[in-house]
This record gives sequence, structure tokens and C-alpha cells, in this order.
Amino acid sequence: MNNHFAKPAHAREDWTIDQGWASYTDQEHQTWDTLYQRLMKVLPDRAAPEFLNGLEALDLHRGGIPDFERMSDELESLTGWRVVAVPGLVPDDVFFEHLANRRFPAGNFIRKPDQLDYIQEPDVFHDVFGHVPMLTDPVFADYMVAYGEGGLRSLRHASLKNLAALYWYTVEFGLIQTEQGLRIYGAGIVSSPAESIFSLEAPSPNRIAFDLERLMRTDYRIDDFQQTYFVIDSYDQLFKSTVDTDFAPLYADLQGEFDLKPEDIAPTDTVIHKGTQTYANKGGRFAA
Ligand code: PHE
Ligand code: FE
Repeated sequence: MNNHFAKPAHAREDWTIDQGWASYTDQEHQTWDTLYQRLMKVLPDRAAPEFLNGLEALDLHRGGIPDFERMSDELESLTGWRVVAVPGLVPDDVFFEHLANRRFPAGNFIRKPDQLDYIQEPDVFHDVFGHVPMLTDPVFADYMVAYGEGGLRSLRHASLKNLAALYWYTVEFGLIQTEQGLRIYGAGIVSSPAESIFSLEAPSPNRIAFDLERLMRTDYRIDDFQQTYFVIDSYDQLFKSTVDTDFAPLYADLQGEFDLKPEDIAPTDTVIHKGTQTYANKGGRFAA
């Protein structure tokens, strides 16, 4: 989410563009397949069943970058959502407006072969592989609509940072408790083989039970693995707790600031795992 850039000339008023599926090169399709195969080595017992079912339902294993039109027709029949192509990050109001109308904006470009492990700007692999499978789950799909509507409302408060933390710690980096143990549903995790293992198995990060207000008070890392992951019990819990809470008093209280650091544990937390933070303390991704 961002605001500080201009709309490219070829984009429409709502920032959408044609995906240009026919223009992808063999090498670009190959990049998708390589990333897909790497993730399939780690996700089967780690990703949430709803995510894995979504990959099946949308037939995303057929090879190559998916054609958004074909995929959207299948997705629309399940939950009413479609995927629209955009040139990259879009302004907050544009992003929220798309979500509120069941359109997920996805970058149409794919990372270069020398950037397979880390990219700054979300590409088609992160946006489609990471986000779209969960949109086949009816409750999660409704949560994303509510988030878009809540986002439009939040623009009247100076509190985008706090609302963004909610997106970050759920849609991007959320974990869920299942009968088989902790599973991943966050798009930022499932699109990274290394963080898929780290988030569930490393001793370093905290794993703390979801608490809406607590999470909206918490700063987060955008340049490395998270120092804390929040664990929901169900998508119903996520949907109900956010939809039934009026964020206005919280926005007024927080004033767009965070009072907890990424690694903090608060007195009210239900701690599932208290992290050692050794990964972050040694410098994380930037360690010598
Ligand atoms: N209940 C939130 C508000 O009062 C809206 C919202 C719902 C935000 C769901 C995010 C997710 O603004
Ligand atoms: Fe994302």
C-alpha cells in the first residue's frame, strides 16, 4: 500500500491494465514453475487446508503463469471474486476500492531469474500464488471485502498504519491453529519457502494468539522474517472480531502510532511460543 507515485499512462482510471498473458516468455513461465515446485516441497504439511484446496480448486498446477481471465471465471463461481492486473503497487484508496468490490489487484510482471528468493515489490507469483487460493474460502473472501470497506472508512482517520498492521499480521503473515497443529494462511509466508519453515518451526519468533487491538498496536518488519506471528483459531474468529469492532475509538487512541515493537510480548498476551529472537538479534537477513 502506498500513495507516492503516479499512474502509468497505459493504466485505466482504476489502475488496471491488461494482463498481456500472450506476451509472457517461456523463461517467465519457467520462473513461475520453478517457484511453484520449490514451494510444493515445503507446503503440503505446513499450509492451511483452505490454501491447498484453493490451489486445487483454481487448477493452479497446470504450469506457467495463470491466465487471469480463466482463473477469475473459476474464482468468481466460488466466491464472487476476480483477479485484475495492475502495473505494481497501487494507491491505498484504489486498493481498498478494488477489495470492497471483490477484485484482487495483482501485479502482472514476474521477478527476474536472479531474484527468485527475495523481491521488494510484489510480483505475479506473490500476488496470485500467495493471495488468490485463500479467496476461494467463503469466510476469508468476506473478510477481504470487509477489510476493503474498512480501509475506505479509515481514510477519514489518520490511522492507515494501524489498519495496515492488521493486514500485515493476518492476510500477509497469519498462522491458524488446526487439529493437525499450526498451519500457514498468510500470503507473504506461503510464497516464501524459507519463511514457511521459519514461521512454524524456528525457535526465534514469537507465536501469539490473535487479539485484534494488540495486533493493531504492533509495528512490523517489512525487510525480513517477522519477529512475531499471530495465530487465529478460525477464519470466523478473524471475520467476526474485525467486523463487530468499531475501529474509530482505536484509531483515535493510537493516532497512527505503534506502542509495541515487533518483538515485544505484552502482559495480556496468550503466548503460544516465546521466541528466542536469536535470528533477528544476529542481524537476520543482513547477518555477516
Ligand atoms: N470494523 C472496522 C471499522 O470499524 C472495519 C473492518 C472490518 C476493518 C474488517 C478490517 C476488517 O472500521
Ligand atoms: Fe501481498
